[in-house]
Amino acid sequence: QNGHKKYTRVWCDGCYDMVHFGHANSLRQAKALGDYLIVGIHTDEEIMRHKGPPVFTAEERYKMVRGIKWVDEVVEGAPYVTSLDTLDKYDCEFCVHGDDITLTADGVDTYHLVKSAGRYREVQRTAGVSTTDLVGRMLLLTKNHFKQGCSQFLPTTQKIIQFSDGKPPKPGDRIVYVAGAFDLFHVGHLDFLEKAKEHGDYVIAGLHTDPVVNRYKGTNYPIMNLHERVLSVLACKYVSEVVIGAPYTVTKDLMDHFKVDVVIHGDTPVMVDEEGTDPYQYPKNVGKFVVVKSGNDMTTERIVERIIRNRQEF
Ligand code: CTP
Ligand code: C5P
Repeated sequence: QNGHKKYTRVWCDGCYDMVHFGHANSLRQAKALGDYLIVGIHTDEEIMRHKGPPVFTAEERYKMVRGIKWVDEVVEGAPYVTSLDTLDKYDCEFCVHGDDITLTADGVDTYHLVKSAGRYREVQRTAGVSTTDLVGRMLLLTKNHFKQGCSQFLPTTQKIIQFSDGKPPKPGDRIVYVAGAFDLFHVGHLDFLEKAKEHGDYVIAGLHTDPVVNRYKGTNYPIMNLHERVLSVLACKYVSEVVIGAPYTVTKDLMDHFKVDVVIHGDTPVMVDEEGTDPYQYPKNVGKFVVVKSGNDMTTERIVERIIRNRQEF
């Protein structure tokens, strides 16, 4: 060793259908094992063959992974069984995966090649969240779901610290504030936050509490509880800071406290607050309210519809 630290390129691959903070957490751990993280994502055809139909299209899945802050590069249409050729082609030293076995349709370990070549590393899978679990929550459209809560995930301050940048705004940074439910963080949210980020340097996302979201979304929403939503939003590369349980109404106090320059909302409908007034009245009065068009019509409700439709067809 002559003092030069080796530069390590790391490979991850998967379906990344319905990207959740469990996926993000595995990519975070993978990135920490090296310097540059490349994520290979399977095509719809490959997923169809080995697992069944994906809920999201390849374009949506690629975009969601590109939005995660630990990801440096995405390889579209990566093979289901990770080959040494693939690692070599992208100059990656090893492949990283969670500590669960994934099999092909023929029952072969998708990582057997990289494992026997000693080019496989394992990270801890996040307990309490999976696509199957989220689909289960969505199908469980019972009225008392919200009161009971059905998340098995145990949030800790450690996890929040690991996901957070821990960086305050720099002097002169233009501060953008956005608020919402950000339930089942999806491509619509991602496109919205990308647009919001163009209006400033430091994006603060205020996440409403579960009872607040339930007041305006009804039935069993939110599907993900506040702590889970916090991690999903923190994993997004456009977001610098998250308010854990933001007030529904954006007040002068809140704007002064965070030194907010502009408050941004997408072009989705805004529900009035409990007094029947516009939650964005104050920023509108002071000329600090902007509407951006995400250009994406994805909503949490549409995801639920897709899941139910998928269920009926297969
Ligand atoms: N992963 C994880 N923790 C979870 C879910 C997934 O660490 N709770 C990891 C997997 O171990 C894998 C990566 O995320 O390394 C992407 O894998 P993918 O094929 O998308 O994941 P699945 O295991 O199918 O995830 P899910 O069951 O949630 O669809
Ligand atoms: O609906 P929710 O509260 O999660 O939305 C958070 C923010 O994302 C809102 O500003 C909303 O307008 C925006 N959004 C968007 N396009 C979508 C979905 C949400 O601009 N397709």
